[in-house]
Amino acid sequence: MPIVIAYLLGSVSFSFLAGKLLKGIDIRNHGSGNAGATNTMRVLGVGPGIAVLLLDAMKGIIAVLLGRWLGDGGALLLVLCGVAAIVGHNWPVYFGFRGGKGIATTIGVMLTLAPLPAVFAGIVCILAIAATRYVSLGSLLFTALLPIFVWFMHFPVEVFCFSLVVFAFAWFRHRSNIIRLVQGNENRLGSRKNNSG
Ligand code: G3P
Repeated sequence: MPIVIAYLLGSVSFSFLAGKLLKGIDIRNHGSGNAGATNTMRVLGVGPGIAVLLLDAMKGIIAVLLGRWLGDGGALLLVLCGVAAIVGHNWPVYFGFRGGKGIATTIGVMLTLAPLPAVFAGIVCILAIAATRYVSLGSLLFTALLPIFVWFMHFPVEVFCFSLVVFAFAWFRHRSNIIRLVQGNENRLGSRKNNSG
């Protein structure tokens, strides 16, 4: 039951709702076309972008806590609740299964499950974004480093497996970003270039 609730919670697309409420638009038809915090910042501005980042991360935190409150609190259930929230964010049942790339929700889940690896990977991510203004590069680095930090800090095997799943989801969802990074035409933070559609 907590896993289903976590999926339904993850499916609440705050970037979609922000687009509709603030400008009457479908955010998925603007900017990069992604229903996430970065594209919200790009299309709607810094304030809405930060609000969506925090709310999307909160989904991940609450999903894990649901596993604690409603389940046996075992590592496997917490991890499955986290996966369910990210799946909901990426493929939301309320919005035609067209969602985001799951990074903000992953941050929330990881901060709850394995705070130190999340903070260390987050620092690298922030430095990469500050140096390049490529949020996607920071996101890719963040998810690639999580399994490494989780492994070396001896977290439960369930959390390590979760970090591998997160890595696979994130790199799969960033396919178009990876191509643009390789080609040298990825959107930089602050640029309003549109490659949706
Ligand atoms: O978390 C999403 C970010 O890494 C990339 O977003 O909109 O530039 O594809 P976007």
